[in-house]
Amino acid sequence: MLVLGLESSCDETAAAVVEDGVRVRSDVISSQAEVHARFGGVVPELASRHHVVNVMPVLQSALDEAGVTLDQIDGIAVTRGPGLVGALLVAVQVAKSIAYARHLPIVGVHHHEGHLSAVHLAGAGRSSTDAEVAAHRSPGFPHLALLVSGGHTSLIEVRDHGDYRELGRTLDDAAGEAFDKVAKLLGLGYPGGAVIDRLAKTGDIDFLKKMPKPLPRKEDVNFSFSGMKTWMLNWVQQNGVPTEQKMNDVCASFQHAVVTSLVSKTREAVRQSSVQEVQLSGGVAANSHLRAELRKAGQEDGFEVFVPPPRRCTDNASMIAAAGYHRLVRGERAPLDLRAIATLPLPSRDARDGSPA
Ligand code: KG4
Ligand code: ZN
Repeated sequence: MLVLGLESSCDETAAAVVEDGVRVRSDVISSQAEVHARFGGVVPELASRHHVVNVMPVLQSALDEAGVTLDQIDGIAVTRGPGLVGALLVAVQVAKSIAYARHLPIVGVHHHEGHLSAVHLAGAGRSSTDAEVAAHRSPGFPHLALLVSGGHTSLIEVRDHGDYRELGRTLDDAAGEAFDKVAKLLGLGYPGGAVIDRLAKTGDIDFLKKMPKPLPRKEDVNFSFSGMKTWMLNWVQQNGVPTEQKMNDVCASFQHAVVTSLVSKTREAVRQSSVQEVQLSGGVAANSHLRAELRKAGQEDGFEVFVPPPRRCTDNASMIAAAGYHRLVRGERAPLDLRAIATLPLPSRDARDGSPA
């Protein structure tokens, strides 16, 4: 089954073709990072306008790279929320138009369900090879997910495809938001998570020893990052923006504090739920220190860690196609008045959510 995935929830316009929820046939991403960089964050109106301009060329590239035409597509999956509503609308409208014109089934996908499905895709590049498909292993069910993106940070029990239960979440900023705000404070541009990651590689994690440790109660599996961000703001006000080696040291210390919090709460959630497999997903899952520290924790505590390759951690459409595949196979169909929704709970079978309304 060939599923066309479309994603435009924030500042990436993306289209992908995925076969049977595993084999990536094409995965095209057009980032608007440069458009928004000079404003220090995503400007919703600009994002919508750029999606309108980019969506058709991106869609055509995805079909061309997969070597297919719309005649060979069996179903369409599109991100319906959460996200910027004007941005979401672009891919939703294109998806519905194709579904109508081609009589194709369509499903709306929760953006976070997309992130949680990236782990089921084979390979690390724009398309999967036969060897990658044969070698691919996914976590079983139930497993635990640490979902860390620019707008969201939570620990989730993944009971099945399309069936999720949130165990803990951030009480204030998302981890990616904290990375981006601190990067801005340090004059590193937007989005700054990847820049901090790069500079931290040659920095000293012990440089800032007094960074606050949030939510110290061990059993608490929620997160909080605003205290670290405020502490960094005060530090920069007192010490000025660091340069050269000191900048790398500051990045390494801040990154280590965020990663330590993410990893320690994940270890605790594993202990409480007694699962043996953990997936790491969302844009911040591209962070090299987080990937390494979570793997180390897994080795120490006896749980296996599954992490998608970096390009599938940040926003893309192959993850949306992967999530949509399982919904299409279950017979789910969205009506052609499918709406884009800015805020949306994660689907759970208990709540009878996940309906395409
Ligand atoms: O999942 P995503 O692409 O978009 C949302 O759904 O929010 O995540 C984007 C976030 C941004 O905050 C970005 O700074 C962060 O992921 N990010 C990173 C890295 N790469 C992207 N944060 C830390 N280290 C990275 N290597
Ligand atoms: Zn995302």
